[in-house]
Amino acid sequence: MDDLSRRKMLLAGGALGTIGVLGAASPASARTTWTWAASGSVAGSGAGSDPQWVWDDEADQLLGAILRRGDVPRVNELLRTWTRNDQPLPAGLPEDLRQFMEKSRKLPAWADQAKLETAAKFNEGRGLYLNILNGIGGGMLSTAIPREARAVYYSKGGADMEDRVAKTSKLGFAVGALDAYRPEGTCIVEAVKTRLVHAAVRNLLPQSPGWTGTSGGQKIPISLADMLVTWHTLPTYAMRKMREWKVPITDAQSEAYLHVWQVTAHLLGIRDDFIPGSWAAAESQSKQLLDPVLGPTREGVLLTDILLGQLAEQTSPGSVDRPLVNAFARYLVGNQIADWDGIPREPFWETAIKTAWPPLVAFREGLIKLPLVPQIAWTIDEAARKYILFYLSKGREIHLDIPDTNRPG
Ligand code: HEM
Repeated sequence: MDDLSRRKMLLAGGALGTIGVLGAASPASARTTWTWAASGSVAGSGAGSDPQWVWDDEADQLLGAILRRGDVPRVNELLRTWTRNDQPLPAGLPEDLRQFMEKSRKLPAWADQAKLETAAKFNEGRGLYLNILNGIGGGMLSTAIPREARAVYYSKGGADMEDRVAKTSKLGFAVGALDAYRPEGTCIVEAVKTRLVHAAVRNLLPQSPGWTGTSGGQKIPISLADMLVTWHTLPTYAMRKMREWKVPITDAQSEAYLHVWQVTAHLLGIRDDFIPGSWAAAESQSKQLLDPVLGPTREGVLLTDILLGQLAEQTSPGSVDRPLVNAFARYLVGNQIADWDGIPREPFWETAIKTAWPPLVAFREGLIKLPLVPQIAWTIDEAARKYILFYLSKGREIHLDIPDTNRPG
């Protein structure tokens, strides 16, 4: 808490004030009955079990054993050398881990190479929107997901958010890259490493007094329902926003974009009978899982402040500052979520962005001519590019490491 400004805490007061009122019925514990039909999943059928009570048993037990044996530092060192989809696993990994990783690095039988290629080209062409939506939009949504905000805050990475965002972006950029699932790409590597990180977190967070005191009764974090909640803040939200922004998208592109995220969900350890098989199934699952759990938390407000502060710093100096970043974040997620995240109001910039963003998108898509784009749009465009570049280059220097402790202190 020491690195947080008191001013921001005061600004966030509105959002925080509502937490007490929500009390026991806080969104962290609000769950509706599971009615989503497995017939709408990529598996096409399933037992209909509620993913709130499903985790990733095999991975979780394995990481429990690795943590107990004190193998994490050695494993991390070896895994740093594993960087390409087609690369053999490093020699010297513990045998149980090696066997698990050999299994979990395989693409599912339903993965379709042609669709993955279409998705890669689509992702590249729409990189600016996707990085903004996944990075800033998805980030602002995830801090308004109480379980995720608390898990992130109380885990090891919560103490260094710049590093943490760069690590998370590493997977995002891997998914969006042209070679994502090609042999030289990195998507399989980053997804499998993330699966291991989550499994370690499931073992570690239950030992954190900060987490157990705020988990709303959840005994083990990151259930598959939680995973799906976050998944919807990525492709489901991004597709919805691109449609809202009238980005031209063919049926083949939309299907392919869903597919790349279905494959990624599988590699992250989400069961096939929970992975939406169509956009309609994704939307209905998102309504059931994501919408009811969004809400304010102290941790979410604190994390949002750090994230937006970093964003302003990276896209500066000179060209842009915190009020613009605040307004852009609000534009991406809407007033309700922005208020829950404690994002301050910025009347001037909010109007400027509302006016400038649609013509900027229309111009980029070749739908209008340059003179119709307000000058201010280029400030936003440049800031977005700087943000992407910053995390792209930072991402190259860092690795997804398995944590072996929680947030210190
Ligand atoms: C770590 C992505 C869901 C909590 C990570 C990392 C990535 C990632 C790439 C590695 C970065 C790092 O080590 O900091 C995703 C994706 C998800 C998802 C793509 C869903 C589709 C969730 C959920 C929660 C969560 C639902 C909690 C409710 C965490 C935590 C870490 C982590 C606590 C570890 C940070 C640390 O090392 O301390 N996630 N995540 N994630 N994730 Fe997730």
